[in-house]
Amino acid sequence: MKVLVTGGAGYIGSHTVVELIQAGHSVVIVDDLSNARTDVVCRIESIVGQKIKFRVLDCADKEQMRLVFQEDKFDAVIHFAGRKAVGESVKKPLEYYRTNLDSTMTLLELMEEYGCKKFVFSSSATVYGPENPYPYKEEMPAIQSSSPYGWSKVMNERILTDYVTAHPDFSVVLLRYFNPIGSHDSGLLGDDPNGIPNNLMPYIARVAAGVLPELTIFGGDYPTPDGTCQRDYLHVVDLAVGHRKALEYAENHTGVEAINLGTGNGISVRELVHAFESANDMKLPYVVGPRRDGDLPAFWADATKAKKLLGWEATHTVEDMCRSAWDFAKKNTK
Ligand code: WQD
Repeated sequence: MKVLVTGGAGYIGSHTVVELIQAGHSVVIVDDLSNARTDVVCRIESIVGQKIKFRVLDCADKEQMRLVFQEDKFDAVIHFAGRKAVGESVKKPLEYYRTNLDSTMTLLELMEEYGCKKFVFSSSATVYGPENPYPYKEEMPAIQSSSPYGWSKVMNERILTDYVTAHPDFSVVLLRYFNPIGSHDSGLLGDDPNGIPNNLMPYIARVAAGVLPELTIFGGDYPTPDGTCQRDYLHVVDLAVGHRKALEYAENHTGVEAINLGTGNGISVRELVHAFESANDMKLPYVVGPRRDGDLPAFWADATKAKKLLGWEATHTVEDMCRSAWDFAKKNTK
């Protein structure tokens, strides 16, 4: 298929582009580079051994995006582009709603204009909100969140679902990610956020690299076996494979499907820290501090739907995730 990948220079997008090309699909990347390294596309090209069409653009810019749709006839769009810092979204809600909602609506309008009918969306486990029991299953109400970032995912899911109701020949897969970590085996792609990381693994990696002095574990008094929060961490390469399979599913189905991408297992922050230490044979300085506002004690995926519909399941271990995350950080942290 010929696929437009928005946010294709970002952490998950770049790994997915590699997976798509290696599976024989062709890709055009649109990314405004607001939270990506400028050399990512060259790195992708060196992994896949071919040039990739790439436009530096905000995908909510309809006139510029129309030129992209005029130039290539896409079979599908995978939409990663968007703002994703939970804490920042609380301080700048309008920026988050404007960027994360406008981009989807712009893409849908252009897809309608140019006859492209397959859409894979980057959603998040955050749509299950604080009320649902875990493991989260797709049939649970996914209509809540605790931040504007999360609400923008809920609203995008709604927009896409309503769009499909009006256009039953259209296909949407809403991929609800759990906690992606780890890096590509080449050591060329990984999670490298601008500024001080918000997410756990990039923070750990910068402590390991000596750029940050120590990790603070947010809360040691949760009602979990070791008192720290539990999450479903999955390898970003498994996640990339999940996107490829979702795209291939969309090719053969119409309608909307929400699908969890997670391993189905929860591990705690403390367990992840210890796994990182033992996978990379090092000691990681850390302290246990107060809870972070908005964190849930624990959640993980019920991953059976992904296996049933997509034939997908996570294959990498926590050790693989920790080893590859450090390999990337070691080679790339300045
Ligand atoms: C994981 C655990 C923290 C940093 C968020 C979004 C989600 C998705 C991924 C966006 C938690 C703890 C963290 C630190 C810590 N989307 N932690 N010290 O909050 O589960 O999910 O990111 O990109 O939609 O909500 O992920 O990596 O921030 O935190 O102890 O310095 O690590 O409290 O328990 P989270 P995270």
